Amino acid sequence: MPVVSGSSGRAVADILAPLLDMQHVPLLSRKFPDGEGYVRVPSDAIESVRCEPVVLVSNTYPDSGILETILLLKAIGDVRKGDLSNYKGKEPQKLPDVGSEVYLAIPYYGYSRQDKRFSPGEAISARVIGEMLANYCDGMVILDLHAPEVLKEISVPVEFVSSMPEIADRLRSEVNPDFVLSPDKGAIDRAKEVATIGGWEFSYLEKTRIDAHTIEHSPKDLDVNGKTVAIVDDMISTGGTICRASDALRRQGATAVHAACTHGLFTAGAISRLSNHVDGVHSSDSLPNPRAVVSSAPALARGLQNLMK
Ligand code: R5P
Repeated sequence: MPVVSGSSGRAVADILAPLLDMQHVPLLSRKFPDGEGYVRVPSDAIESVRCEPVVLVSNTYPDSGILETILLLKAIGDVRKGDLSNYKGKEPQKLPDVGSEVYLAIPYYGYSRQDKRFSPGEAISARVIGEMLANYCDGMVILDLHAPEVLKEISVPVEFVSSMPEIADRLRSEVNPDFVLSPDKGAIDRAKEVATIGGWEFSYLEKTRIDAHTIEHSPKDLDVNGKTVAIVDDMISTGGTICRASDALRRQGATAVHAACTHGLFTAGAISRLSNHVDGVHSSDSLPNPRAVVSSAPALARGLQNLMK
């Protein structure tokens, strides 16, 4: 059974395929000079894509990733349908339909934070992306989606999986924290899972976002004096949330602070900003980034095994 990948999924697919006893077959994906995307199932991959159910690993980030994912799903779907008709008349033009069975594994689901209509007139972007993808696949596995409820009415089965077990392993071997902290209420479940796996103390901060660049952490009595703390979140973007949380922890006596996340976006100089506030940053490889030390493949494998039962 093949695990296929586009440009954003190659590294994860390389690790994922053997976990599933599958073969990784990279698909062709490149850009035209004007920036438009081009994808193709190469001739030597057609047989594998048609032989058994297919798993595509692809991110919906950045915007070009959304389009690439849809184009790849459509190309795979046509090959499985046996529709190879082409302008140049290359053979074969038609093969028997082998059925759909195309599953999408998404390490990082872009637009996940626009999961509500915060103001009238907005699009619920996270749902729009899900609805588009559902037209071209038979099921999805999504890693640490910010708020899974946004996809509850999607027309294909979705497995929501988490890298928190692997993040807990990483923290146990490299940090050995005394305390795990969620930087806001939204990350409580994930951070608590890490704390439970490691047998570490747990608490959270009250975060108020003033705007995209300004966050306030309400002080809370935490017994972190003299302790090593790991802040666990689903994603780090500008790093503002982590830096403010770390400052609050240090004011309360924490001696070392580490940050861990599934999705390391690290926008706008986040890595150097974080280096002034925390002692270490541990991210999964759902997105390529300089702190990708945890594999996202085991979590995706768990979801795919459930989905394809
Ligand atoms: C928001 O609720 C998320 O869970 C993260 O806390 C947030 O996206 C992190 O963004 P930043 O690194 O820009 O503070």
